[in-house]
Amino acid sequence: MNLPFAESFKIKVVEPIKRSSRTERLEWIKKANYNLFNLKSEQVFIDLLTDSGTGAMSHFQWSEMMLGDESYAGATSYYKMKNAIKNILGYDYFLPTHQGRAAENVLFSVMVKEGNIVPGNSHFDTTKGHIEFRKAKALDCTIDEAFDTSSEHPFKGNIDLAKLEAVLKNNPHEKVPFVIVTVTCNSSGGQPVSIKNMREVNALAKKYNKPVVYDAARFAENAYFIKIREKGYQDKSIKEIVKEMFHYADAMTMSSKKDAIVNMGGFIAMNDEALFKQATVFNIMFEGYITYGGMSGRDMNALAQGLDEGTEFSTLETRIEQVAYLGKRLTDFGIPIQMPYGGHAIFVDAKRFLPNLPKEHYVAQTLAIELFIESGVRGVEIGTLLADRDPDTRENRYPELEFLRLAIPRRVYTNNHMDVVAVALKNVWDRREKITSGYKILYEASIMRHFTVELEKI
Ligand code: F0G
Repeated sequence: MNLPFAESFKIKVVEPIKRSSRTERLEWIKKANYNLFNLKSEQVFIDLLTDSGTGAMSHFQWSEMMLGDESYAGATSYYKMKNAIKNILGYDYFLPTHQGRAAENVLFSVMVKEGNIVPGNSHFDTTKGHIEFRKAKALDCTIDEAFDTSSEHPFKGNIDLAKLEAVLKNNPHEKVPFVIVTVTCNSSGGQPVSIKNMREVNALAKKYNKPVVYDAARFAENAYFIKIREKGYQDKSIKEIVKEMFHYADAMTMSSKKDAIVNMGGFIAMNDEALFKQATVFNIMFEGYITYGGMSGRDMNALAQGLDEGTEFSTLETRIEQVAYLGKRLTDFGIPIQMPYGGHAIFVDAKRFLPNLPKEHYVAQTLAIELFIESGVRGVEIGTLLADRDPDTRENRYPELEFLRLAIPRRVYTNNHMDVVAVALKNVWDRREKITSGYKILYEASIMRHFTVELEKI
């Protein structure tokens, strides 16, 4: 008999979590104005709000924390991080930032001007936010297959080269500052980009003399999918694949809270010294001096160690197999989800789950609330609330897909927890016909409204 699959770690420290009653949850969610971000974490039994900064560090990372050098300038921790970035990703220059959106803020302060168009694959909301904040436009060039949740396309994060070329060809050169590729593509379901697509996007961008920037938050998960799914890569190590991936990008922004498995941190990396120098000015202004930029020495140490562990096959296999485990339980119940299973999360297709709910009632948010009431499991809406309003017309931008995202923190929950999530969602599925009304907005902020929105039951 083949031995079954098991996690590539054992557990040294545990953190208690508490179950609650339906009555308590009904009261808590009402008090939270039906916004799951407003819940206290102790009111949540299993927290799948995000995989960002919620992972469990290894004992190697915790030891590195003790070795952190907190010098303002020239800390050894800075050089540890610099070496890890050079060795694993291949970039000569880097700037630490406190998280991914800060990296976007600094880099876009140099690269994005009013009236610009930034083509890419379903830009993440903070990326889009930082582009639109500068009165520029984020243009989605993802392949059409990404918008059909039942399609099993292995690389739904891919950029449609024809769509991209149309943007590059039909706009004056100075209007398109760069092409951005998000690996994996969070907004389309944690879906990977193939190395072939990365190579082709790079070639196309070079033809038009444009730099390519990666939003690399989940680059290691992307590399894992390349190894598993792309012809010719089975025998390459994750680290070899990662090197090739970044060979096709001139610069990158990183939220280290994902694939570098730290609770806080980010960076920008690039090969162009002139760009580094320009970005340095903004980094010092917004984040901190060059050699710490928003991070403490201990955090830079843990990040350097996390980049190494996060690009080990066994780490990624454990993680992605767990996501697939939850995905399989849900598909076995007949619950519609984005296929194939993503790298960091399962994305439930809320429109197919609740077909009788009008889009004006915030379909994915309604499903997220129902799941919380059912079980104390917290997911997150990736739908109309997140898509925000059109900056010009101020009308709701109803996205093609409405998702309830169940993002799984790294090395935190067991598959027993995944079973609870699956059965809870199945219970909601069984009573889906009875869910015929959703929510309306009482208050919303002018940008990135989903974090603070207040809702009322219709
Ligand atoms: N890019 C991607 C693809 C992301 O998923 C995120 C964050 C960011 C950039 C911004 O990084 O949070 O460190 O500032 N995603 C989190 C999530 C919040 O839940 O998916 P950050």
